[in-house]
Amino acid sequence: MHDQKSKLLFTPGPLSTSQSVKQAMLRDVGSRDAEFLVMVREIRRELLQVGAVQEPDYTTVLLQGSGTFAVEATLGTVVPRDGRLLVAVNGAYGQRMVEIAARLGIPHLAVEFPENEPVSLARLASHLDQSPRFTHLACVHCETTTGLLNPIEDIGELCSRYGVGFLVDAMSSFGGIPFQVAEVKADFLISSANKCIEGVPGFGFVLARRQALERCEGLARSLSLDLFAQWRGFETDGQFRFTPPTHSLLAFRQALRELAEEGGVPARYARYRANQELLRQEMRALGFETYVRDCHQSPMITCFLYPQGVTFDFTKFYSLLSERGFLIYPGKLSRANTFRIGTIGRISQADIRALLSAIREILPALAKPDTGT
Ligand SMILES: Cc1ncc(COP(=O)(O)O)c(C=O)c1O
Repeated sequence: MHDQKSKLLFTPGPLSTSQSVKQAMLRDVGSRDAEFLVMVREIRRELLQVGAVQEPDYTTVLLQGSGTFAVEATLGTVVPRDGRLLVAVNGAYGQRMVEIAARLGIPHLAVEFPENEPVSLARLASHLDQSPRFTHLACVHCETTTGLLNPIEDIGELCSRYGVGFLVDAMSSFGGIPFQVAEVKADFLISSANKCIEGVPGFGFVLARRQALERCEGLARSLSLDLFAQWRGFETDGQFRFTPPTHSLLAFRQALRELAEEGGVPARYARYRANQELLRQEMRALGFETYVRDCHQSPMITCFLYPQGVTFDFTKFYSLLSERGFLIYPGKLSRANTFRIGTIGRISQADIRALLSAIREILPALAKPDTGT
């Protein structure tokens, strides 16, 4: 059930959340109180379960802020000053990691790939062959820019072969696509509260291979974004070092319960997939083509090209849908005119059908034949 004032969010986050997740926030908790510390411990443990890994080999670090804060904390803590980072880029979030590395003065190389193709293992391998100085490789799992999935299992295998640490931005896939963090061979896997676990914004988290994290003491380039110190804090007294997002954590604990009730990650994946397939099929019937080929498409978000041969007014499209209670997302590509529709969050098949009917209703007034004038 959605409350009456909320619009349905067909976006990559923040997302539509359940009423019970929102309700879980309707109380206050003390950040040093035993009840809160138990909750933090539970959340950290359950996140390992979602990633199908266990203590003591793996551990979890929660970090205040949005997902980017957790990415920045990871890059800034993990790559030593004499290390070197290889970043695979096929979208805006890969590019953001490059920007972070540049800003923090982390020696790095960006390897760019077309935005509608997964990153190529052969090209990554050739860079690793050319320079033995790379200590880490970072890539995005689901590139939310397009909805494309990168082959993280194969990239993890490559990293392990070359002995480089593997950093995965699994922001929009963790909890929504079944995979085992250990099988992916990720040393650090990053996500946030308001993606596939279906919590509200407020913090990011990192699932870390404990031995890899233990090597990071004193390496961070920032005080508040020090992943190692944050972890040490949790391990010593169970507390966040600085003011925690208490309400967001209450919502997240409820969201984790609802993930388990739904049947865990496989069931959530099945729902997201069914929603995305329905959307893709019906949008194609309306004349919208997808930017990413089906074989690389994630169930998280779909990037649609503006219809061809007509003048398409996206701003009007957006506002007419918004008036009807549906929020979609603009495109993020420089080379093609696109918009995006997210299928993660508390969204059902009925919600997708409702969005599609609204699109059918408004489309005739929007896509005007292109007269070439
Ligand atoms: C793959 C990926 N990485 C990073 C981010 C950045 O997260 P935030 O906007 O929460 O900082 C996002 C946000 O959608 C994302 O999808």
